[in-house]
Amino acid sequence: MAAERYDGVQKSLHWLIALLIFCAFGLIWYINSLPLSPLKFKLYSYHKWIGISVLILFTARLIWRVRHGTPGALPGQPAWQAKAADGAHHLLYLLMATVPLLGWAMSSAKGFPVVLFGVLPLPDFVPKSEVLGEVLEQAHEIVAYTMLVLIGLHVAAALKHHFIDRDTTLKRMLPCKHNTQE
Ligand code: HEM
Ligand code: HEM
Repeated sequence: MAAERYDGVQKSLHWLIALLIFCAFGLIWYINSLPLSPLKFKLYSYHKWIGISVLILFTARLIWRVRHGTPGALPGQPAWQAKAADGAHHLLYLLMATVPLLGWAMSSAKGFPVVLFGVLPLPDFVPKSEVLGEVLEQAHEIVAYTMLVLIGLHVAAALKHHFIDRDTTLKRMLPCKHNTQE
């Protein structure tokens, strides 16, 4: 289903999820620099809560997208470019779900179940196993950095549209209202 522009819900979810993902990276890098301490364990929990929040918001975003559609390509945009953007967006959606799911699975396998916001215990959906925990840790890290690279390309493409092509690709994702046909 095609919509004319990104609506307020799509924009809010896009920017909120982006912010949370950047926080998840920033926090884990900070955690890695800390010696073992109660603070380090507390911050691991925050990293997990941020990640699970991304998963929840991702689900809401996916449902909204299926029901309300997206604006699609700008008029005059080359077909290859529209296809590439579509492919990259689908891949970003896939990674937005896979990264937190792998983190959750890793925590379960390592025997550190997630208690969301310190109050809601989440079920373990993989068995407790040291070997599986190590494999999932590697997978979580590799897939997370793959997502970071794709986000880098995504941001570069958005900035190229804005500053070089001077079209409305970025503007139609920004909070204020803009004419998408510009
Ligand atoms: C958008 C969501 C997430 C992102 C972007 C993310 C990113 C990362 C990255 C990049 C690392 C590796 C850091 C490094 O060593 O260089 C990491 C480690 C970790 N993540 Fe996540 N993560 C997310 C969600 C989650 C979730 C949902 C959980 C658990 C419920 C989780 C649990 C962990 C744990 C426990 C580690 C440390 C692993 C270890 O060193 O033993 N993450 N995360
Ligand atoms: C964690 C970071 C980010 C993720 C995971 C992400 C993901 C996505 C996804 C999946 C879409 C497609 C939306 C849809 O069609 O349903 C999208 C659109 C868009 N994003 Fe991001 N994004 C991130 C950060 C950013 C940043 C920092 C910028 C700005 C520099 C940006 C600019 C845009 C723009 C302009 C669009 C609309 C593209 C179009 O209309 O063709 N994104 N983003």
